[in-house]
Amino acid sequence: MSEREPEIERGGGLALVGYRGTGKSTIGRLLADRLRRPFVDADDLIVERAGRTIRAIFEESGEPVFRDWEERVLGEVVASRPDAVLATGGGAILRESNRRLLRSFGLVVWLRAEPDELARRLKADSLARHGRPSLTAAGTLREIVDVLEARTPLYRAVSNIELDTQGKTPPEIAEVILNHWSRSEAPV
Ligand code: S3P
Repeated sequence: MSEREPEIERGGGLALVGYRGTGKSTIGRLLADRLRRPFVDADDLIVERAGRTIRAIFEESGEPVFRDWEERVLGEVVASRPDAVLATGGGAILRESNRRLLRSFGLVVWLRAEPDELARRLKADSLARHGRPSLTAAGTLREIVDVLEARTPLYRAVSNIELDTQGKTPPEIAEVILNHWSRSEAPV
């Protein structure tokens, strides 16, 4: 795990970023329980606000419209749930405005895993096959390698902490984050 100095003043929230399959929602729920804070899954909130599945938004309206929803919902969470544990979608870091929002929200934790491990997890996750759109025309492992390579500098730029999830269970990862959280300046 490595840490970075935050460049802008941050609030008391906790956000999880990272590629699909890194466990953001599962670990986010565990953290929210332990910290007795509300849990918000940005993708779930988008589905609620848009009244459509993410796949439907991508297929019917295209990725830019989905990204607009994502930006609106992140802004809503930062403004109205400043104490939340927030699980973001894998591409929430793409827009600079979102990265600024996340850094102002609170501690940003980047959950990492190697592409082959992500491919394995996503294959095992039926939601990944039926509920979420493919991001490129390429097959799974190729897509993961390419997309991850493009996004890595953005995950790195937005996060305060990066954490390798490989070989660890969600409770173990949550524990590492909680240890860091209790030592950080953010109010518990
Ligand atoms: C996306 C990841 C998904 C969802 C959308 C786009 C991405 O979220 O926001 O399908 O661009 O990586 P998860 O990371 O929760 O699967």
